[in-house]
Amino acid sequence: MRAVDIIIKKRDGEELTTEEINYFISAYTRDEIPDYQAAAWAMAVLLNGMTAKEITDLTLAMAQSGDILDLTGMADHAVDKHSTGGVGDKTTLVVQPLVVACGAQVGKMSGRGLGFSGGTLDKLESIPGYRVDLSKDEFLKQFREIGNVLTGQTGDLAPADGKLYALRDVTGTVASLPLIASSIMSKKIAAGAHSIVLDVKAGVGAFMQSVEDARQLAKLMVEIARQAGRRATGVISDMNQPLGNAVGNVLEVKEAIQTLHGEGPEDLTEHCLEIASYMLVLTDLARTVIEARQQVEDALNSGKAWEKFRQLVIAQNGDVSYIDHPEKLSQARIIHPVYASRSGYLSQIHAQIVGEMAVVLGAGREKKGQQIDHAVGIEIHHKVGDFLEQGEKLFTIHADSEQKLQEALPALKKAHQWSNEPVDPLPLFYEVVMEGQRLHKTKK
Ligand code: URA
Repeated sequence: MRAVDIIIKKRDGEELTTEEINYFISAYTRDEIPDYQAAAWAMAVLLNGMTAKEITDLTLAMAQSGDILDLTGMADHAVDKHSTGGVGDKTTLVVQPLVVACGAQVGKMSGRGLGFSGGTLDKLESIPGYRVDLSKDEFLKQFREIGNVLTGQTGDLAPADGKLYALRDVTGTVASLPLIASSIMSKKIAAGAHSIVLDVKAGVGAFMQSVEDARQLAKLMVEIARQAGRRATGVISDMNQPLGNAVGNVLEVKEAIQTLHGEGPEDLTEHCLEIASYMLVLTDLARTVIEARQQVEDALNSGKAWEKFRQLVIAQNGDVSYIDHPEKLSQARIIHPVYASRSGYLSQIHAQIVGEMAVVLGAGREKKGQQIDHAVGIEIHHKVGDFLEQGEKLFTIHADSEQKLQEALPALKKAHQWSNEPVDPLPLFYEVVMEGQRLHKTKK
């Protein structure tokens, strides 16, 4: 087989065979196909799309390019979740203990922040001692023993995706639905869970800005899971405004702790209860979402979910006194409240701007590998649709320096838009995509 023939076939809009995709991905992983040919192929995929079968073949080829963990043999109810990324999204910190408290097992590998969207690993590292670098053996041991693991990627998972993603990043080929879906799903499949809830965000603070694009991505990933012998549900959720009130690592850990104590913001609590319910249904621990919802609410209200969060922190070497007494977690030098300059209804809290300003403050990275400041960030005190009187507290900046504070302040003010007329609150969810809603061919 020759790489050039495969590129030409895709350029001409034809369907690649399983053998051609397997050859291309394995040869590229072994450096036998150069980056320039892989880039030409990725562009042909971006322009011409792929069939559902090609996308599944590509996903499996990338998953099989490295280690594949199999958690199904070790647990009856292994379940995972994946969020496509957003601002203030600390869902995993709440949802994982919730479903573990209900009898599910979660062996989850999370990532770091990417651009203006935060990452679970960065949040966890706000807890002194918490290890996000478990080895594959440590991961499996903890999974077998307590069914509750939350760490960074272990072992050599989907190396083809790592290579291809870096290439796509610099060749204008990130924004391709088949490539995004196969990239995400290859890592999820390699990480071993049999059931996966995909939280696909839609809005100005998300990868997919429109609900239509998010729906396409969700359908694609659910279909890939089905063809790969896994079960998945896609939940399309709003990312026009931040989720919850806190953006920034320590602030988000504190908010997750409050939520696990039943005292979290309404939107975050509701979001987590729903995602957890879909996870329980996928694992067959509940027959319906209504039944699952009852179970996760009980787990929250009884304190069992909180105990599972403590169990996780202890198992991964975190100093539990910091989550028992969150006031011990690091605090920014400057805490600067900002008050509403007028009365009115909030019509927008622009999630992307809030996320970008969190990065400016130091909560995220502008360059790969950059050190972050766990203590800094932003608290928003209201949601779209709220009515405020002039002078009410609008948001609070947690900054390390006056200079950073002044850099972030004007944009954060602009991120909040006002209306004289009542404004509908934003929905939390747009729709749910279940197995069976198939897609045959996709462009982009
Ligand atoms: N996240 C991934 O893992 N891959 C993509 O292509 C996009 C987002």
